Amino acid sequence: MSSNLDNLYRRVIMDHYKNPRNRGVLDDGSLTINMNNPTCGDRIQLTLKVVDGIVVDAKQEGEGCSISMSSASMMTQAIKGKTIEEALKLSTIFSDMMQGKEYDEDIDLGDIEALQGVAKFPARIKCATLAWKAMEKGLKNEEKE
Ligand code: FES
Repeated sequence: MSSNLDNLYRRVIMDHYKNPRNRGVLDDGSLTINMNNPTCGDRIQLTLKVVDGIVVDAKQEGEGCSISMSSASMMTQAIKGKTIEEALKLSTIFSDMMQGKEYDEDIDLGDIEALQGVAKFPARIKCATLAWKAMEKGLKNEEKE
C-alpha cells in the first residue's frame, strides 16, 4: 500500500475515533448487545432498532482503542438503512478483509476500507471485529425470531 493511501486511511480512522458517529444508546425496545474483547477487556454496547427487517437505527458506546472505537463508528454508519441480510453480508465481507481474503469489491465499503491495513496486524484484528461480532450476534438472533 502506498504511504499516501496509508496516511489517508490513518486520517479516516482517527476521524472516526475522535468524532464517533452514532455514539450513545437507543431507547427501550431496541436490541442491546454487550461484548468485550477478551484479550484486553475493552467493551462495546451496541443498540439496534430493527423494523420490518431493516436496521433503521444503530448506536454504539464503549471503551477501547482507536481501532475498535473507529470500527464501531464505521460499522453503525454502514448498516443504518440496510436489511438484516445486507448488514450480515457486510459483516462477512469485513471478516474476509480482516483475514486478508479476497472480497466482493463491487460493494462500496466507504470508510470501512480504511481498516483493511489491520489485516497485517493479527493482534489488532479482534479490536477491529469487536463491533461487527456484536452486530452479527444481535441480527442473527433477530432473524431467528
Ligand atoms: Fe482493546 Fe483494541 S486494545 S479493543
